[in-house]
Formats: sequence, structure tokens, C-alpha cells
Amino acid sequence: MTPSEQARTDADSTPLPRVRRVAVVIGSTRPGRICPGIAAWVSAVARVGGTLRYETLDLAEVNLPFLDEPLMAALGNYEHEHTKAWSRIVSAYDGFIFVFPQYNWGYPAPLKNALDFLYAEWAEKPASFVTYGTHGGSRAADQFSGLLRGLHMIELADHLEVVITDEDVDASWQLRDLDAVMFPYTEQTRAIDAQMVAALEGSA
Ligand SMILES: Cc1cc2nc3c(=O)[nH]c(=O)nc-3n(C[C@H](O)[C@H](O)[C@H](O)COP(=O)(O)O)c2cc1C
Repeated sequence: MTPSEQARTDADSTPLPRVRRVAVVIGSTRPGRICPGIAAWVSAVARVGGTLRYETLDLAEVNLPFLDEPLMAALGNYEHEHTKAWSRIVSAYDGFIFVFPQYNWGYPAPLKNALDFLYAEWAEKPASFVTYGTHGGSRAADQFSGLLRGLHMIELADHLEVVITDEDVDASWQLRDLDAVMFPYTEQTRAIDAQMVAALEGSA
């Protein structure tokens, strides 16, 4: 075998690195929500880095009931098919960016419910988040940061707090210009991507 043939054989036998998947979770489930647009923007800007595969994951589509498992998730013994399906979905992701509004100084109940359904599936995975509201959703951000610690997730250094003013929305509270609202957060979103790449480097 010539050296070049040997090199080709070696290259063929080297396993390709697995593409890391990051879920950009749409954390508002109500009709008329603005969350999907913001999540799509975050996903598109984060993936400019090119290393990670960002995919939006819509909790409205997952459509979980209120937590109805007899045993706590930390025991990992699920009774319901919807929990097992949710477990398979979350297990397939390496990292998460949760996108959600501030509701009455907290984060949305359906998001908490979706997180509470599982335990080991979240643990030790890197996570960041994007809050939004008239003051950026900082109260929800503070609470959510505690929740990530409780789930033993690895919180990245950066998160976004997107300020949405009355001028940014129409009478139905729909964003007039998504790109204009989100543009100031471009660099910070790319920083989150870089932090996600670093956190996933060397993980199995
Ligand atoms: C139940 C509820 C509570 C809200 N509480 C707050 C709040 O505490 N702070 C804030 O800035 N906006 C608050 N808002 C306004 C939301 O920021 C606004 O409705 C936003 O569009 C919600 O996101 P979504 O459309 O993706 O659900 C609240 C809205 C709802 C529906």
C-alpha cells in the first residue's frame, strides 16, 4: 500500500465528530405569542458560528399536560408515554437556549412544568436563556437562573434580556419589526454561541 493509499484508509476509519444539537426552546405557549419569532431570530444568529446545529423546540407542540407522573423525575421511572417521548426529545440535545417572556415577575408556568417533568436529561448540559419584557424580563431571568442551578445545568456566562417598548409593538402586542428589536443583541447572541461551543468541547 502506498503512503497516500494508507492515508486515505486512515481517514476513512476516523469517525466523524458528532454534530452537537442545541434546542432553542420556545417557552411561551399562549395563542398570539411573540416568542416563536424571537426564538427563530436567536437560532438563526447563533448558528452563524457554524459549529452547532440550533433547532427551535416549541413547548406548544410538545403539548405536555400538567405534571402527572406518580414518581419524581429524579427517580427516572416514567409511567406515561408523553413523559417518555419528552425524555427522548430532551436527551437528543446537547445544550439549550430557553426563550421566554416575563409573566408577573416570573417565567411562564408551562416552561417550569416542562422542566419539572424530567431531571437527569437536563443535568450537566450547558444552558443559556433569553427573557423579554418591558424591562427585559430581569425578574424572570433571576428566577430562571436559580432553576438551572436546581437542575444541575451548566449556566453559560451570558444571557439576553430583551427590552420591548410600547413603540416596538402594535395594538395587538405583535412586534412591528423583529429584526430592529433584536439587532442590539447580535453580538451577545454570538457570544452565547461561542460559550456553548466551549462548554461542549470535549464532551462525549
Ligand atoms: C400573564 C402575563 C403577565 C405579564 N407580565 C409581565 C411582566 O411582569 N413584565 C413585563 O414586562 N411584561 C409582562 N407581560 C407582557 C408580556 O411581556 C407580553 O405580553 C409578551 O408578548 C409575552 O410574550 P409572549 O407573547 O411570547 O407570550 C405579561 C403578559 C402576560 C400574558
